Amino acid sequence: MLPNSCGWDIINCMDDREVGKYWDENARAWTDLSRLGYDICRDQFNTPGFVAMLPEVKGLEGLDIGCGEGSNTRIFASLGASMIALDISPTFIGAAKAMEQEKPLGIKYVLGSALDLPFEDSSFDFCVATMSFMDIPGPEKALVEAFRVLKPGGFLQFSITHPCFDTPVRFWVFDEDGNKKALAVGGYFDELGGDILEWIFAVTPQELKDKYPKFKTPCFRKTLGSWINMIVDTGFIVERLGEPRPTEEVCEKYPSLADARLVSLFLHIRARKPG
Ligand SMILES: C[S@@+](CC[C@H](N)C(=O)[O-])C[C@H]1O[C@@H](n2cnc3c(N)ncnc32)[C@H](O)[C@@H]1O
Repeated sequence: MLPNSCGWDIINCMDDREVGKYWDENARAWTDLSRLGYDICRDQFNTPGFVAMLPEVKGLEGLDIGCGEGSNTRIFASLGASMIALDISPTFIGAAKAMEQEKPLGIKYVLGSALDLPFEDSSFDFCVATMSFMDIPGPEKALVEAFRVLKPGGFLQFSITHPCFDTPVRFWVFDEDGNKKALAVGGYFDELGGDILEWIFAVTPQELKDKYPKFKTPCFRKTLGSWINMIVDTGFIVERLGEPRPTEEVCEKYPSLADARLVSLFLHIRARKPG
C-alpha cells in the first residue's frame, strides 16, 4: 500500500497506463456500438440527468476528463462551452478528433491521463468527467488534479456508477408475479483495486455481440463515504448530488431500463473549488 498526498491508501495493483491499455482495446467496439445508439443508459437518462444538473456553461472554458469518443463533450460544447477533452486511449482520442473534423464544434482533444493533467494551474472554469473516475486507479489523485486546474470558484461535476448499488454482490428479488421488486446488495465495503469486469451494452443485437469482443473494464469501486471524504479532503465544497432515473415514457420504449427506476444506477456529484 502506498500513502498518497491526500493520506488515502492506494490499494490498486494496476497503474493508469495499464488501465489505459484495456480502454484502448475497448475503444473501437465502444465507439461503434455507442454511436449506433446501444449505450441507452448514457443516452436515455444518465447524460440527460447530468446535463440537467449542470450550471450554465455558456461562454465558460471547460475540461472533459476521460472523454471517450467525445459524445458528451459534444453536448457540453453545444451548450456554448469552449471545450478541451482528454482521454488516456489513443483510439478514443482518434475517433473523437475524426468526428470533430467531420462536424466541427471547436473542441480540442488531448491524449493524457487524469492523474497528470497537461494543463497549468487555474486554467478552467469547470471540469466534467462522465463515468470515468471509477475507472481510474487512485481517483483521489484525479480529484487533486481537477482541483489544481480549476480556477478558484470553478466547479467539477462528475458521474460514477452508484457506490451503494453497484456492489460486488448483487441480485434481484422478485415478487409473487415474477416482477423485479428489489435489489439485494452485498460486499459494499470491498473497495476493488482493478478487478476486470467483462460486459457489453445489454441491448446490442446478437450479430454485433458476435462481431465485437466484450469490453474489459478495470474497476476501482469505493464506498459512498470514501468518495465524499476524498472530495472534501481535496478541498472541494460538495454542492449537489444527482441520482438520475429514466422517465416512464423512456422505459416504455426501452423496457430493459425499468431496473433503473427501482434503484439508482448512477451518482452525479458537483463540487466547487472555493473562490
Ligand atoms: C466508461 S468510459 C466513459 C467515456 C465517456 N466519458 C462517456 O461518458 O461516454 C471511461 C473513459 O475513461 C477513460 N480513462 C480511463 N482511465 C483514464 C485516465 N487515467 N485518464 C484519462 N482517461 C481515462 C477511458 O479511456 C474511457 O474513455
